[in-house]
Amino acid sequence: MHGVENKVILITGASSGIGEASARLLASNGAKVVLSARREDRLRSLAGEIGENAVWLKSDVSNAGDMKALAALAKDRFGKIDVLFANAGIMPGSNMSELRVSDWMSMIDINIKGVLNSMAAVLPEFIAQKRGHIIVTSSVAGTRPVPGNAVYSGTKHFVRAMLDSFRAESVAEGTNIRTTAIYPGAVKTELLNTVAPSQAKSMVEEFYKNVGIEPEIIANAVLYAVSQPDNVDVSDLTVRPSKES
Ligand SMILES: NC(=O)c1ccc[n+]([C@@H]2O[C@H](COP(=O)([O-])OP(=O)(O)OC[C@H]3O[C@@H](n4cnc5c(N)ncnc54)[C@H](OP(=O)(O)O)[C@@H]3O)[C@@H](O)[C@H]2O)c1
Repeated sequence: MHGVENKVILITGASSGIGEASARLLASNGAKVVLSARREDRLRSLAGEIGENAVWLKSDVSNAGDMKALAALAKDRFGKIDVLFANAGIMPGSNMSELRVSDWMSMIDINIKGVLNSMAAVLPEFIAQKRGHIIVTSSVAGTRPVPGNAVYSGTKHFVRAMLDSFRAESVAEGTNIRTTAIYPGAVKTELLNTVAPSQAKSMVEEFYKNVGIEPEIIANAVLYAVSQPDNVDVSDLTVRPSKES
């Protein structure tokens, strides 16, 4: 597809769900994809399916060194970086009163610091070339309060505030770095696997099963943002099931 062909796209959280579906769709439209996640077997198999236009690195977004290594791999194998899709995230939801402090901190490490680590790895390249595109997966939970998921909601609000501010900086500095925040509703992925068993979890699982949309739908939104001409910034895209308010 025009605007996608030969673009080098780093994708975090590429081992399942939205990241995996996006990697497939972008590669089938001519992009070269650089796949990141911790599950090596999943990455190897996805890269094998895509072929020569995919490379992968077992990497943890909470580790700044891993993200630098990912950017270096992209440069080494494909010679440039055009787009970062910072998509890795976890959602071990619970009420604050349950004091699952370790889960809170993991969400901050992955959903916030992970996004920043991956941005820090590509920004020197983007600034030097005065061109680049950063897409981050927020959530509808990043647009409103979500009881039962307060810390997760906070991490996804962070994405919106940070990207909106960064966009203004990029315009003022003339670096031409485009930014897109994607706000999915319920999507059928492995995201609920990190939620501890409870009655609330069973209800959410039921909702996702009955109402959730396929990750390929979010991949379509990513493709749309990537394929726009250089002078167009698709800033925000909310994509949710028609049965989700
Ligand atoms: N599903 C939904 O309904 C929904 C709605 C709104 C927003 N989102 C957001 O969409 C994004 C993708 O989630 P998904 O729904 O596709 O769920 P998923 O299938 O569970 O995918 C999450 C991805 O993140 C990766 N990941 C988690 N921790 C990581 C870490 N420390 N380092 C590197 N990679 C890590 C996972 O890979 P490994 O475990 O192999 O590392 C996996 O590839 C997340 O940011 C999520 O918050 C999802």
